[in-house]
Amino acid sequence: MSNRTLIRGGLVVTAADEMHADVLVEDGRIAALAAHNSPVSQTWTAARTIDATNKYVLPGGVDAHTHMELPFGGTSASDTFETGTRAAAWGGTTTIIDFAVQSVGRALREGLDAWYAKADGNCAIDYGFHMILSDVNEQSLKEMDLLVEEGITSFKLFMAYPGVFYSDDGQILRAMQRSAVNGGLIMMHAENGIAIDVLVEQALAEGRTDPRYHGEVRKVLLEAEATHRAIQLARVAGAPLYVVHVSAEEAVAELATARDKGLPVFGETCPQYLFLSTDNLAEPDFEGAKYVCSTPLRPREHQAALWRGLRTNDLQVVSTDHCPFCFTGQKELGRGDFSKIPNGLPGVEHRMDLLHQAVVDGHISRRRWIEIACATPARMFGLYPKKGTIAPGADADIVIYDPHAEQTLSVRTHHMNVDYSAYEGRRITGQVETVLSRGDVVIDGRTFTGRAGHGVYTPRSTCQYLN
Ligand code: URP
Ligand code: ZN
Ligand code: ZN
Repeated sequence: MSNRTLIRGGLVVTAADEMHADVLVEDGRIAALAAHNSPVSQTWTAARTIDATNKYVLPGGVDAHTHMELPFGGTSASDTFETGTRAAAWGGTTTIIDFAVQSVGRALREGLDAWYAKADGNCAIDYGFHMILSDVNEQSLKEMDLLVEEGITSFKLFMAYPGVFYSDDGQILRAMQRSAVNGGLIMMHAENGIAIDVLVEQALAEGRTDPRYHGEVRKVLLEAEATHRAIQLARVAGAPLYVVHVSAEEAVAELATARDKGLPVFGETCPQYLFLSTDNLAEPDFEGAKYVCSTPLRPREHQAALWRGLRTNDLQVVSTDHCPFCFTGQKELGRGDFSKIPNGLPGVEHRMDLLHQAVVDGHISRRRWIEIACATPARMFGLYPKKGTIAPGADADIVIYDPHAEQTLSVRTHHMNVDYSAYEGRRITGQVETVLSRGDVVIDGRTFTGRAGHGVYTPRSTCQYLN
C-alpha cells in the first residue's frame, strides 16, 4: 500500500489506444489499468491518489538524441547530466539516450566509461547511451560487438565534420557490415562534410561570415546526397539504417523511396526543423547564431514535407538533438566566422509540448504524438515495453498532462542551463503537470520533487523493428 499510487479519471493515451482509465502503480511499475470507476478500480487503494480528471495520462517521453556535456567546437554543451535531465523531467521526458563519444585513436571502452562516469549519480530520469564512432578501425569494429552485448546497441557515424567525427565511405561500410552481424543500429549524420568544407572556405574568403551562411553552405542537396549514399551503403552491407536529424524535403524523399522498396531504413526529425527556419538563422546582430545546428534549419517550405513524413511514417521519431550552448561566451565564439559557432540547439524540455501544439494545430493525431515521442523511440532503441507505453509491467514513467493549460516558452521560465530560448515567446496550449519516474513523483503539480541520482543507466536490447 505505501508503495502504491493511483491515478484516477484521466484519458490514458498510448500509441495504440485512448481510454478513460484508472492506473495503479506499485513498486515502480504499472500494476494494472481498468476502466474509470469500474468495479475493479474502485477496490484499489493506494498511499497516494492523483486526480487526473480532464487531464491526459501519457507514457513518459523518450528522447533518443541528446548531448549533455558534449565537448564540441572548442567548448562543451552547457547542460550537465544533472541540469539537462532535470529540465527533461519538467518537460515530461523520463528517458534520454545520450551519445558517448570515442576520441580519435582511443578505444570505444574508454569513451563509454567516461560517459558512464559523467552521468552516474547525476540524472533525475533514466538514461541509456549510443556510441559515437569517431575512429572506425579493426579494434573499434571488434569492440562494437561487446558494446551491443552490454546494452549499447546503436552507433552514430558522421558523414560530416572532417577531422572531428568524420568517417569515410569505407569506414562507414565496414561499420555497417559489422552491425549487420552484431545487431547494432547505425545512426547516420547525413551531410557531405567534405563538400561543405569547400563551401565554408569559399564563403569565408568572400567575407560571408554571418550565421545565416551556415545554412547556405550546408546545402539541401548535400544532405540529400549523403542520405542517398548512406542508404546505398547500408543496402550493400545488408544493414538497417537510422538517419538522424532529417531537415530537408529531399532527404525525406530519399527515405521514402528506400522504405517503399521495403528497406529497413528509418528517419528522425527534431522540433527545430518543424517549428524554426532559415528566417531565424538570418536574425540580425548575430542573434542567428542561436539557431546554428547541423543539419541546419531550412526554409520554412520544408516543414510541410517533414510533417507529411511524420504522418505517413516515412519519418518515425522526433528527438531533440538537445545540444545547448549559451549565446554569451559560447555561440559568440563564432562572431566574424560562422564556422566557429558551436553547433547545437537547446530543446530537451520542450519536445512534448511542441508536439502537443502540433496536435492542437492538426499536424498529427494525439496517438501519433505518443507514437513518435514515446513508443517508437523506445522500440527503435530496444527499450519497449519497459519504456514508451502504459501497460501492466511497464516502468511507471507517467506524465499527467493538462491539455488546456496555456504557457509561453521563455528563457525566464525554462529549466535548461542555457541563456536563451530558441522558442522565446512561443505560445503553447498544454503543459506537463505531474511526472512519475519509475513510480516516484519527480514533478508534482509543477514543482520539482526529484533528485539527481534517481535516474539509472538502462541497458537496451537491439532495435525492435528488425525481429
Ligand atoms: O548541431 C548539432 N546537431 N549538434 C550536435 C551534434 C550532432 O551532429 O548531432
Ligand atoms: Zn549529427
Ligand atoms: Zn546530435
